[in-house]
Amino acid sequence: VKKGNGVKGLTDSGLTSVPPRYIHPPEERIDRKKTIDATPFLGPPINLAGLEGENNGAIANALCEAATKLGFFQVVNHGVSVQVMERVKHAAHTFFNLPPEKKAVYLKGTTPCPNVFYGTSFSPEAEKSLEWKDYLSMIYMNDEEAMQSWPQECRDAALDYLKGANKMIYGIMGSLLRGLDVEVEDSALSLHTEAKAVNMNFYPPCPNPELTVGVGRHSDLAALTILLQDDIGGLYVKVEEKGWIEIPPIEGALVINVGDTLEILSNGRYKSAEHRVIASSTKARVSVPIFVSPRPQIMIGPLSGLPEKHGKTVYKHLLFGEYMANYFGGVHQGKKTLDFAR
Ligand code: SIN
Ligand code: FE2
Repeated sequence: VKKGNGVKGLTDSGLTSVPPRYIHPPEERIDRKKTIDATPFLGPPINLAGLEGENNGAIANALCEAATKLGFFQVVNHGVSVQVMERVKHAAHTFFNLPPEKKAVYLKGTTPCPNVFYGTSFSPEAEKSLEWKDYLSMIYMNDEEAMQSWPQECRDAALDYLKGANKMIYGIMGSLLRGLDVEVEDSALSLHTEAKAVNMNFYPPCPNPELTVGVGRHSDLAALTILLQDDIGGLYVKVEEKGWIEIPPIEGALVINVGDTLEILSNGRYKSAEHRVIASSTKARVSVPIFVSPRPQIMIGPLSGLPEKHGKTVYKHLLFGEYMANYFGGVHQGKKTLDFAR
């Protein structure tokens, strides 16, 4: 197995069972048969047509309700075209199918631009069991840097996808912030959505998906995650005290989830739901999330007026950069990351 070819390198070597390093303890494995019916918890996709208009009250309410109850929902008529979505999924396959030496250029630590890095699992140095996933992370600073530094094989597709999603991102975040029913400063929306990154996740076919995980259970760091998944399925979300539901692939839809940052900003009202992914035994799955966050030097904490309204302060104020450092310093273990902000 060539260095720097991640899990893809393992599968290409023709292995017939997962190596011991990828075997997770029984309680962390994903049993698809134990999944519960999603219907009571996950509504139909929210139709965003009209979100920009005057009479958008019903759409805004649906978004706030979904963010409050589960923290995960799907959207349609979101403004990102089918062509753009198809192209970016295809671009993800193109990147991960590159020869190992071409991908290795972007390995964390030696990548020419620290805003672009390729890796495997979440935190391989710290994890007892590794995740069956390779990824490419592209942090957006400006067009010029992206054009220069993002891998040419997927750069244009990723940029078009990010740009296509921008209007929807502001529409959804704006609705969620206004839905908190406190005076939200005009700057709050731009401050908390200023930093964006496009990731490409690649889950090679796995000989024993029941023994490992594609991604272990975690909540997201960002304020909001926009996720494009392909038609393979395998993304599960925890319904507290009930069990796990699958977020079914719906052609043309995007998955939206609340991250830790928005749970903190909303003083716990919007839920950063725990989720995880199982690999497929036969196909390579890709997903393409956009992470929407504040910049590291921005203070995050419950928006002013909320603790009074809720009668309690759930989270403290801290720099987003501090929260981020703690997040990436750990391993995937559910919603534990949020304890750092208590
Ligand atoms: C993740 O939440 O880290 C990945 C989600 C997915 O691949 O569906
Ligand atoms: Fe996630």
